[in-house]
Amino acid sequence: MTSVPRRTLNEAVTRFWSLAAPAYDFSALQRWAYRPPQDEVITLLRDHKCRRIVDVACGTGILADRIQRELKTEQVYGVDMSDGMLRQAMARSGDVQWLRAPAEKLPFDDGALDAVVTTSAFHFFDQAAALREFRRVLEPGGIAAVATLAPHQPPLLSRFIDSSRSLAHNPAPDEMRALFTDAGFEVADQHRVRRPLWTRMFTDRITVGVRSA
Ligand SMILES: C[S@@+](CC[C@H](N)C(=O)[O-])C[C@H]1O[C@@H](n2cnc3c(N)ncnc32)[C@H](O)[C@@H]1O
Repeated sequence: MTSVPRRTLNEAVTRFWSLAAPAYDFSALQRWAYRPPQDEVITLLRDHKCRRIVDVACGTGILADRIQRELKTEQVYGVDMSDGMLRQAMARSGDVQWLRAPAEKLPFDDGALDAVVTTSAFHFFDQAAALREFRRVLEPGGIAAVATLAPHQPPLLSRFIDSSRSLAHNPAPDEMRALFTDAGFEVADQHRVRRPLWTRMFTDRITVGVRSA
């Protein structure tokens, strides 16, 4: 994956998701694939009483919109690189602030936020750079939560992710912990996303880090 220049990768990912945006909200796909990690993120943010939150690679804005409505928080941001996805997000909510930016260069001042979350997108990022950026925009004690697929997927999924031809990479649990630690986080939790039985083919995991001082 590292052999593909980052700009080329970002452009390819942006183009793909702009085209895929209209199909993304298909309800079975959302309920089975994407919703379980988002439910966990909402619970985490509620438990930590987070008030200034960004959802990075927010896609069509489903999670950021839920955060804003369910937690009644004033400062919720959704950041994504793809105009197609952001168009859908803007149509979904006027209460979330939608911004176009890459995960590796977030449009926030140092220490501006108390939570950074991202679901189903980390495999596309320059992971070390994105985590360093998450740390930069968090205040001390702020949390970063990353939900991502595990590297060993069933045959159908692994054709797209982590194959030798794939541009995306899902870190193994230990690798993810090391990425967090190297970026200046203490890993507070890491576990497999709780899912209904019939979607357990998705072996996704959530890792939560606390920004050390
Ligand atoms: C599978 S969608 C996930 C959307 C949403 N997070 C969810 O859980 O439904 C992946 C999204 O990641 C975005 N993305 C990929 N790489 C990115 C990067 N480096 N910076 C910002 N957004 C990125 C894409 O544009 C796309 O909207």
